[in-house]
Amino acid sequence: MTIVIKGGTIVTADLTYKADILIDGDTIAAIGPDLSGDEVIDASRTYVMPGGIDPHTHMEMPFMGTHSADDFDSGSAAALAGGTTMTVDFCLPAPDQGPLDALQTWFQKAGPARTDYSFHMGVTWWGQKYFDEMPRVVEAGINTFKHFMAYKGALMVNDDEMFASFTRCAELGAMPLVHAENGDVVAFLQQKLLAEGNNGPEGHAYSRPPEVEGEAVNRAIMIADQAGVPLYVVHTSCEQAHEAIRRARQKGMRVYGEPLIQHLVLDESEYFHPDWQHAARRVMSPPFRDKKNQDSLWAGLAAGSLQVVATDHCAFTDEQKRMGLGDFTKIPNGTGGLEDRLAVLWTKGVGTGRLTMNEFVAVTSTNIAKILNIYPKKGAILVGADADLVIFDPAATKTISAKTQKSVIEYNVFEGIELTGLPVMTFSRGRLAYKEGDVRAEKGNGRFVERPASAPAAKALSTWKELTAPRRIERTGIPASGV
Ligand code: URP
Ligand code: ZN
Ligand code: ZN
Ligand code: ZN
Repeated sequence: MTIVIKGGTIVTADLTYKADILIDGDTIAAIGPDLSGDEVIDASRTYVMPGGIDPHTHMEMPFMGTHSADDFDSGSAAALAGGTTMTVDFCLPAPDQGPLDALQTWFQKAGPARTDYSFHMGVTWWGQKYFDEMPRVVEAGINTFKHFMAYKGALMVNDDEMFASFTRCAELGAMPLVHAENGDVVAFLQQKLLAEGNNGPEGHAYSRPPEVEGEAVNRAIMIADQAGVPLYVVHTSCEQAHEAIRRARQKGMRVYGEPLIQHLVLDESEYFHPDWQHAARRVMSPPFRDKKNQDSLWAGLAAGSLQVVATDHCAFTDEQKRMGLGDFTKIPNGTGGLEDRLAVLWTKGVGTGRLTMNEFVAVTSTNIAKILNIYPKKGAILVGADADLVIFDPAATKTISAKTQKSVIEYNVFEGIELTGLPVMTFSRGRLAYKEGDVRAEKGNGRFVERPASAPAAKALSTWKELTAPRRIERTGIPASGV
């Protein structure tokens, strides 16, 4: 059966034009005027864009003594309702668990996914077994390895481990990702704040100032440069982090920055809300920042020094958040956003003139597909590409409310935001997967998308060459020993 999406305005990362799209099976078969097919979808007065790709989600993730509340079933329903047709989740091996073993667990978790998915592999510990298994992880179609520079005593890896792992990534044509916060400084500040009686959610923000992020991003960039590998900085939330990325890119290093939709629109005042629950619901790392930092992130997206907008969707219920009553360090870190990313970015970005429509497509889909090495199968409207499409009505309006969301938690951090411009239909590999409030994709429809190793690793700019091929100096005048 073929489907024609008729009369729409196609918006890609670099073009805006009117044409029909013919879908045959999983893929786009033709793009042009006056196409016909078995079924016709009227897209006049709407935009047709590549489906969103969310490069950063955590479904059913064991974390801080609990599990994130959305699984691949509810999470992928939320994704489709928000115009997102692919998510990249984090496979996190338990202490000393081999990454290949952990991958089996994550494949099982992802079984119910309604839309396509991939994984990043977490470097949650380091050792010979991990090193040995990395090539097979890459062969399995995972070309990215995530390092936590924070969460001391749990997920955090140290600099020596990071350098060894980054070097291994370089050998394999894989790319390291970093959660960049100085975990030692955060742990010190947390204990200091608790000792001084600051145990509320505002302590979370005080213990993770922009400086701890800026320092860690700089450090990770220097380590990546010495290892000769590109670097992707997840949840880039502040100017210090952006500045480090911008500087590295100006020097020619391949460093990518990923702001979250939450950091772009929500600010630190949320943590000073008198209602404990309101503030705790918004506890995530890094915390929300002030307006100056937000402006820096918006500017980076427009300028291209930041490339991607993600959600870090990691939803916890109120009951889970209450684990941190009386001690903010025990509030599970994470917020939702998967269902709202596209529409919020459109209203707050395109609607205000901060982003063009084409930039919007680039940062929500195309850039992500390119960086993660799945372009043009994903992230493109081209003949032969997967028919992952979102029909976006720029005139549709909605006020965000937890009452109508697909996520299983009882609140939404964007509650009350008024949206103009909404995804009204989502196609996932050629099938109508969502229409006007209704998720139609079956559980288990999603497929794992292999992401091959990228061709040659970035070349280091600094001392790397000398480190790997040190010159030997023939010395004279060596003092006699034992004198
Ligand atoms: O607070 C956050 N971001 N929770 C999810 C885990 C992570 O650090 O990405
Ligand atoms: Zn568990
Ligand atoms: Zn993180
Ligand atoms: Zn995350």
